[in-house]
Amino acid sequence: MTTPLILDCDTGIDDALAILYGAYHGADFRLCTVTHGNVPVERGTRNTLTLLDAVGLTDVPVHQGAARPFAQELHTAEFVHGDDGLGNSHLPESTRQISGTLAAAEIVAQARLHPGELVLLAIGPMTNIGLALLLEPQLPQLIKRVVVMGGAVGVEGNISPTAEANVWHDPEAAQLVVDAEWDVVFVGLEITLATVLSSEALARIENSTDKRAKFAWKIMAHYLDFHEKTMGVRTCVLHDPLAMALALDPELGGYRLVNAYVELGQGPSRGALVGDLRKTRPAPTDARTKGVIRIVESIDSETFHEKFLEALGA
Ligand code: BDR
Ligand code: CA
Repeated sequence: MTTPLILDCDTGIDDALAILYGAYHGADFRLCTVTHGNVPVERGTRNTLTLLDAVGLTDVPVHQGAARPFAQELHTAEFVHGDDGLGNSHLPESTRQISGTLAAAEIVAQARLHPGELVLLAIGPMTNIGLALLLEPQLPQLIKRVVVMGGAVGVEGNISPTAEANVWHDPEAAQLVVDAEWDVVFVGLEITLATVLSSEALARIENSTDKRAKFAWKIMAHYLDFHEKTMGVRTCVLHDPLAMALALDPELGGYRLVNAYVELGQGPSRGALVGDLRKTRPAPTDARTKGVIRIVESIDSETFHEKFLEALGA
């Protein structure tokens, strides 16, 4: 069973791991679109091509997208992902051409061509998705399901006290995604923190002779260094691979519908995804309602970790 997928990414280290996961576990990558985020969009585009080439998906078209957010300056995160976005691994780069159509236009074109068929997975800031929603107001009816890696509902942020990076990098775009009347899951820090890799799992990757594991290990060192500095333990969090896993296999998670909004003010909470978790209010019942999202309440982390290691041949 394969899942026809539009992947919108900002290829950095965990985006790369998500591509490796998807390539092994049945993602039918119809196209990849790239946004600013971890690195400038040109670098993220080149990295996406390099990753697809590495897993033999040399015919998946890659479309460059937004170079900056809707209403704020560009910020990138080389301190997390390395100057090259791939952990300063300086891998030989793909020489493949990027596709001509710009990202948002191609998302709309493919959604129109395959109405109700495609899963949209966004693992970077949501600028391209926001632009696509502005170009085609019917997009929510054309897309089967949306999975976003983003938000920190009810937990601390990773880029500000309350905000997770993908939402914080373009809050106005994220609000468009929250308000669109589609079935959208926000895979946030409240659940991705359950994906921290154990030392045994890291050893399996390090000791594997499989070329996918060697590739992953090479790009992961910088990510492990970053987590060691911030978390005090040499490990890493698999944000984007978990979003990929839930896009391909929704049964790995348990979900809750909540009313939500993005904090758009200019104060310190800007970019926070706020979910109404109050038990004293009636829970929404229809995912395809303005301002209603799914958050992930639980995952089968043992199965997820095994599938992740399997994808790397570890
Ligand atoms: C998200 O931000 C980026 O650094 C990662 O690639 C992931 O998509 C985690 O907050
Ligand atoms: Ca990402």
